[in-house]
Amino acid sequence: MTLNNQRTALVVGASRGLGLGLAAELASRGWNVVGTVRDEAGAARLAAAGARVERVDIADPASVAALARSLAGEIFDLVFINAGIKGPEHQDAAQASDDEIATLFLVNAVAPVRIARALLDRVRDGIGIVAFMSSDLGNIAGNSDGYIELYRASKAALNSLVRSFTASIGGRRITVLAVHPGWVRTDMGGAEAPLSVEASCRGIADVVERRAGSLRHGFVDYRGRDMAW
Ligand SMILES: NC(=O)c1ccc[n+]([C@@H]2O[C@H](COP(=O)([O-])OP(=O)(O)OC[C@H]3O[C@@H](n4cnc5c(N)ncnc54)[C@H](OP(=O)(O)O)[C@@H]3O)[C@@H](O)[C@H]2O)c1
Repeated sequence: MTLNNQRTALVVGASRGLGLGLAAELASRGWNVVGTVRDEAGAARLAAAGARVERVDIADPASVAALARSLAGEIFDLVFINAGIKGPEHQDAAQASDDEIATLFLVNAVAPVRIARALLDRVRDGIGIVAFMSSDLGNIAGNSDGYIELYRASKAALNSLVRSFTASIGGRRITVLAVHPGWVRTDMGGAEAPLSVEASCRGIADVVERRAGSLRHGFVDYRGRDMAW
């Protein structure tokens, strides 16, 4: 905790949707929030939500290194890697171009863990949490219909890399979470999704506040329920 007990969060990918919603929810609870964006419109929305604005493209190593430099000396109670993409509309592994595949798996699986590693020193020992926005679609055993096969494969890859990340943090006393936010009405989730951004992010903020200091790693949903990997 900081001297005035104000908790601090970094939300990566906070320009819109769930990342913006989480930044706003944490700020409304009194957290000191830093969020990242990639453009001016996102910066304006994030600043209006009460967060400090930083910039990063998680797929660009130079951009990640610049963010790490910019945050040098700051310590966060929560680093939440939310950024993600859906991938090509067709979602068909057979017709996807190499570029489509590379971009999807880089942004959704490899880059989140790379940036988490780059920021690991910025996470507070003891009560600190590193969280990754995953999806129930990343659960391999739950795949019985092949729905959006490329996206779900990228989240399954993320889940595997999150477990490797957790295994690699050695003596660091921090809690690592993969989080399923529910099916949420965002640009990615679509208008027919049952959950609002506000309801999902209230749940996620509750989970984070409850799990802090537990050192109990896991895959959980926005209600705190354990999910099968
Ligand atoms: N909505 C759902 O029902 C649902 C369900 C399960 C999991 N999720 C996951 O939740 C996360 C957020 O989804 P959402 O529904 O809020 O999607 P969204 O509205 O499309 O927002 C995606 C966010 O990720 C950022 N982003 C994408 N690529 C990035 C990159 N290379 N570097 C930095 N930021 C990048 C976007 O920034 P820009 O504005 O700059 O593009 C935006 O802030 C994703 O990981 C998604 O897979 C969503």
